[in-house]
Order: sequence, then C-alpha cells, then structure tokens
Amino acid sequence: MSKKVDEFVTKTEEELEKPTEEELEELEKELEEETEEEELLEEVEEKSPPPKELVQKRKFLKRQKDKDMFETVEEVFDTSTLMAVYELMRRGVIGELFGTISAGKEARVYCAKSPEGKDLAVKIYLTNTAEFRKGIRKYILGDPRFEQIANRGLRRLIYAWARKEFRNLKRFAKAGIRVPEPISVYKNVLVMEFIGENCKRAPLLVELAKPENKLSTEEWQKIFDTVVDYMVKMYQKAKLVHADLNEFNIMYWQGEPVIIDVSQAVPLSHPYADEFLRHDIQQIRRFFSSVGVEVPSFAELYSKITGME
Ligand SMILES: Nc1ncnc2c1ncn2[C@@H]1O[C@H](COP(=O)(O)OP(=O)(O)OP(=O)(O)O)[C@@H](O)[C@H]1O
Ligand SMILES: [Mg+2]
Repeated sequence: MSKKVDEFVTKTEEELEKPTEEELEELEKELEEETEEEELLEEVEEKSPPPKELVQKRKFLKRQKDKDMFETVEEVFDTSTLMAVYELMRRGVIGELFGTISAGKEARVYCAKSPEGKDLAVKIYLTNTAEFRKGIRKYILGDPRFEQIANRGLRRLIYAWARKEFRNLKRFAKAGIRVPEPISVYKNVLVMEFIGENCKRAPLLVELAKPENKLSTEEWQKIFDTVVDYMVKMYQKAKLVHADLNEFNIMYWQGEPVIIDVSQAVPLSHPYADEFLRHDIQQIRRFFSSVGVEVPSFAELYSKITGME
C-alpha cells in the first residue's frame, strides 16, 4: 500500500459534517445539469475545432509523463483542489486518499478508498500548470467567445472538462463499453472505479506487449476483437469518437480490455470526428499488428465501425 498523500487529507468523521439526504439529492441534481461552461465547450468544439497540428500537439503534450511520480503534492493540491477533495469526503464519496498512480502534465491519478474501503481512482485535473493553461487557451483561441471564457476564468473551464470526462464515461458505459464506472465529479476532481486491486493498477496494453508479459496470439486476437466491438458501440450507440485511442489508453483487467481517458472524445457531429476516427483505427491497427494479430484492412474496419459500406 502506498503512503497517504498527505496526513491532513484524511479527516476524521467528526471533522466532516456529513450532508443530509436532501443535500445529497440536490447535489445529485446539480450533477445532472449542464453548466454554462460545458455548453460553451461543446459549442466551441463544434464550431471552431483546433487546427490539425494543435490536436497533434495536445496529444504529444499528454504523452509527456512526468518522471518523478512523487513530485510535490502542493503543486497539485492548491487550496481550491484541497477543498474539493474535502467536499468529496464530506459527501461520503472519498474516505482516504493514497499515492499517485500517474503524474502527467494535465492530470494526476490517485488511488483512494471509499468510506466502505473500496478502491477508487481519483483523477485530478491540474489547474495550475502552464501546460494546461496554454493547451486550453490555444484550444479555444480564434473563437469570438474566447474573451468571455477567459474572463470567467480558465479554472471553470477545467471543471467543465472534468465533467465532460464524467459524462463521456457514462455514455460509453451505457453503450456497453467497459470503462471505469464514473462515481462522482466535483470541480476538477473526478472519482471513478479503480481498475486493479489494492491500489495496484491493472496493466496498460502497451505494458502487456513487453516481452516479459508475453500473451499468446489467441489472447491478443480476443482483445483485438473486443476493442473493435467497443469501437462499433462507441460509434453506433454512444455516438462518440474516442479521439485518442491507442495502447496507452486501454487497460487490461480480469481478461477484458478497459477503455480509459475519454475527456477528449467528440460527438459524431464534430467537424473532425471522421478524421479522429480514422486516426484511432490506424493506431489500433498498428498496435495489434505489432503484437502479431492479423488485422483487417483499414477499409474493412472503417465500414464495420461506421456501419457504412
Ligand atoms: N480508473 C483507473 N483505475 C486505475 N488506474 C487508472 C484509472 N484511470 C487512469 N489510470 C491510470 O492513470 C493513467 C493516466 O490516466 P489517463 O490516461 O486517464 O490520464 P491522461 O489524461 O492521459 O493524463 P496524463 O496527462 O497523466 O497523461 C493511466 O495510464 C492509468 O495508468
Ligand atoms: Mg492517457
């Protein structure tokens, strides 16, 4: 078990005044409602998509994982984030917060325990890194409403981004795709099912492909078939394109692939949806052929996923 992130992140029950039934109901309702920022994000996304290079750059930035897994806690936990974690404790969602599972430029993932002792994954979007600010600023640049958004504060836009991942997870799960079950989202903190056990996360496909973890071709074939089935469901049922689907964003747990990292998924109406889909298909073809699966042609996969000949 990894060490607790910070002693004072764990509060005793007396210190945390539990919400009442009515309060919880209200919180639940609040979660259902779209915030203005979320609507704005959607509009911006659909009307002024980022230029191609920018999309590439965002993805590149995402890959640049921090080497030091236990970098200063303070950098992530500014007062507002700390308060958000407290609020989730008060609501009885989080019991205790443990060590870092992953430390990227845009988000950190922690293992936590529910008050009942169940493992949880807590994804905290960084609101105070230059990278995220730059990334999101560029993402909305060129839109006439940019000023309006900037005035409201980038922080609130990041909250909307976290809620977007929560909603996308729900939509994928509803379509029958195995994703971490979304549990709660508050400000820049997203709580979901932990994929793994005892705070030890399940492997990513990229890790499973290492020589020491050799799976048989049949096993890879089975994983591939399931991933393709998920892609069909994403497109035809959830009506979303993942837009960053690759061996880094698929975990493997209890014999099943699990899709993660869905904040950037876009609706089929997005002007770049088709381009993103083509890119996802190529990424999946590249990876699975590298592990020995005889992958169908691009055209075959594309028509299977979209249901178009
Ligand atoms: N539900 C989960 N259960 C266990 N581990 C998880 C879960 N979600 C994410 N992780 C771990 O955290 C890592 C980062 O998560 P994710 O891919 O969602 O974030 P990201 O947007 O890529 O962030 P980053 O900027 O850190 O790259 C994953 O590669 C995985 O190892
Ligand atoms: Mg990722």
